[in-house]
Amino acid sequence: MEEKTVCVTGAGGYIASWVVKFLLSRGYRVHGTVRDPGDPKNAHLMNLEYAAANLKLFKADLLDYESISAAVSGCTGVLHVASPVPAVKVMNPEVELYEPAHTGTKNVLNACLQEKVKKVVVVSSVAAIVITEAWPKDLAMDETCWSDIEHCKSLEQWYCVAKTLAETEAWEFAKRTRLNLVTVCPSIVIGPLLQPTVNASSMYLLALLQGTDPGELGGMAFVDVRDTAEAILLAYENPEADGRYICSSHEMRNEAIVEMLKEKYPEFNYPKSFREVHSDLRLSSQKLQNLGWKYRPFEETLLDAVENYKQCGLLATKTGDI
Ligand SMILES: NC(=O)c1ccc[n+]([C@@H]2O[C@H](COP(=O)([O-])OP(=O)(O)OC[C@H]3O[C@@H](n4cnc5c(N)ncnc54)[C@H](OP(=O)(O)O)[C@@H]3O)[C@@H](O)[C@H]2O)c1
Repeated sequence: MEEKTVCVTGAGGYIASWVVKFLLSRGYRVHGTVRDPGDPKNAHLMNLEYAAANLKLFKADLLDYESISAAVSGCTGVLHVASPVPAVKVMNPEVELYEPAHTGTKNVLNACLQEKVKKVVVVSSVAAIVITEAWPKDLAMDETCWSDIEHCKSLEQWYCVAKTLAETEAWEFAKRTRLNLVTVCPSIVIGPLLQPTVNASSMYLLALLQGTDPGELGGMAFVDVRDTAEAILLAYENPEADGRYICSSHEMRNEAIVEMLKEKYPEFNYPKSFREVHSDLRLSSQKLQNLGWKYRPFEETLLDAVENYKQCGLLATKTGDI
């Protein structure tokens, strides 16, 4: 059974909760790290199927090496998902983002080396890919493209700085130590929530359903949370997996998303106007598809997300009723 013990960092988060659910359903034992096991926002984890037998929660902070090391101990694989994703304006990027992303990743990888972990998947982001002026405008971005840290800073894209620093560190570490590493870089992740709180990327769709145009970056790329979790498991399980993987399925403008939503849900108070889009993002997930990754239609993601938000009481309709 040791072969099938995997550590998932930040287990109570949006993407990690689906990763834990899928691992448990496939018979893995899971060591999940959470900062506060007693916090009600993590309560859903022990209610997942097979959790009672196969999920063990560890209280761990990314900046506390010993706590991370204790969770990684006894695991064959580590899926490092935890990293802050800000929902509000960042006041101190160094403390709020860079340290947990960069030092946190270093701590996780050091623990993996110490505990002789066989394979590590680090969840990076297209934030570590797309913020550059060096890529030809007419070409879809692939895994050879990296965000330019100075350019991110000039745009005050602190999250992109943090994710680029963290993934760069991960690859340098793997090169130095020969740790078996794969990184997965999702675009904006949407779809149903397992956790009881609303994470930052779900706020994007919730904003559109409640009258706000959230599209400050212009043309956007999206991927379903369940397809993202499958991509992370595929990167872990497939011995052919190698290097970075963009995980993105649909490029859409906000106007088009609203048109799709209106057809099924005319009752919501959608934005009346949208910011002008200066460039459309184009990303290639061909490498991940070549590994065997499949993704669902965008309509399915939208409908499942809205039904889930309704069930959770997160949506008000035009007339103001919940
Ligand atoms: N959602 C997206 O659109 C998207 C897209 C691309 C990449 N990603 C990446 O996917 C990963 C998960 O994102 P998510 O959307 O699932 O976000 P999320 O729901 O906000 O989860 C983030 C997790 O990180 C944990 N965390 C933050 N700082 C920590 C620290 N110092 N020590 C331990 N844990 C810490 C949080 O724990 P607490 O609950 O204790 O705060 C939480 O479990 C992140 O690496 C993110 O960069 C997300």
